[in-house]
Amino acid sequence: MAEIAVLGFGVVGSGTVEVLDKNSAKVAKNAGQNIRVKYILDIRDFSDSPFHSLFVNDFETIVNDPDISVVVEVIGGVGVALEYTQRCLEAGKSVVTSNKELVAAHGYSLLKLAREKGVNYLFEASVGGGIPIMRPLVQCMAANQISEIFGILNGTTNYILTEMEKNGAEFEVALKDAQLKGYAEADPTADVEGHDACRKICILASLAFGKHVYPDLVSTEGIRSVTKDDKFFASELGYKIKLLGRARVVGDKLYAYVASHLIDKEQLLSGVEGVMNGVVVRGNAVGDVILCGAGAGKLPTASAVVADIIDAVKHLYARKWIGWEDGDPALLADPAQLETAWYIRTDAPKAKIEREFGDVIFAGESNGTIAFKTMMLSGKKINDILARGIKPLSIFRILV
Ligand code: HSE
Repeated sequence: MAEIAVLGFGVVGSGTVEVLDKNSAKVAKNAGQNIRVKYILDIRDFSDSPFHSLFVNDFETIVNDPDISVVVEVIGGVGVALEYTQRCLEAGKSVVTSNKELVAAHGYSLLKLAREKGVNYLFEASVGGGIPIMRPLVQCMAANQISEIFGILNGTTNYILTEMEKNGAEFEVALKDAQLKGYAEADPTADVEGHDACRKICILASLAFGKHVYPDLVSTEGIRSVTKDDKFFASELGYKIKLLGRARVVGDKLYAYVASHLIDKEQLLSGVEGVMNGVVVRGNAVGDVILCGAGAGKLPTASAVVADIIDAVKHLYARKWIGWEDGDPALLADPAQLETAWYIRTDAPKAKIEREFGDVIFAGESNGTIAFKTMMLSGKKINDILARGIKPLSIFRILV
């Protein structure tokens, strides 16, 4: 029997314990042995929980217990979660986590520490919630050169954008609705400003391209600038607006960024609505692989955490495949160099737009503003044109 500990009894921690309990026979069959939660660490009072006898509030009990082989870190953040993860790995315990902030910021050093100690650091649940993405990317697509990964990586913003589309709501109204339904947090900054999606694309890019991509080097825009009018005009042009994390290799450079994009309504990814996530991985043998499913939530995220627990238990004395080298700032290039088509909404006169841009496709006019789609232009080139007196009220890339 393998004995494990769970650090943190929030949404994901309680979901993990619930799935281990509910599916115990299946989990044991897959792991080759029973898995028993010996401790749950949380400073809050859970005396009403059916698992109340497992609670401890002293981390030392866990890290010093030689019977604990796998620790699940679902505390979140980079403070105490970093310290506890380091100490568990140093103590020769494998660690499983859904903590994307920690993996994106410290993945390289934690994976290195795990390698030195001959244990595993696994984080399938950190990207796309319950969607299997790490193993498909690293194992099933191992024969491919990956040229690009992009996707809808944040459920909260996808819900807001979907509501704006369906109900013609403005951003603030859709955000309030997401908060009322429990999708968006009281402080929605990490989601709506794109930081959460940034952490996730950094993890995917690190895995796919083999070097740690640090979030502070990745250009990140959120969805606050998307208006009801933009949704309308984008739809007139045949597109939906989605927040995408993208990482793309061109030559020896990696372009990574997070921004709102227009996606053709015919593309499969545009059908990923509400709190669902979707990821496209482009391999040079297989072509495009699209994975989609529940990107957040208690049981979907626990599904991925428990799969990693099973894997860690099965590989107690063997290292798994996962890992990457340290980051190299010289690898990352400015995404403004990439060419794409653009959507622009402005109050500039139509004649001036035609004069400065040449060929464009107009979406329509409303309330003194006009929206249009450009031909392929780099971010740098478009800024040069806009500087000639066309003030963009909104400007988004179009996924081509
Ligand atoms: N806040 C995240 C989201 C939770 O909305 O997708 C899952 O990482």
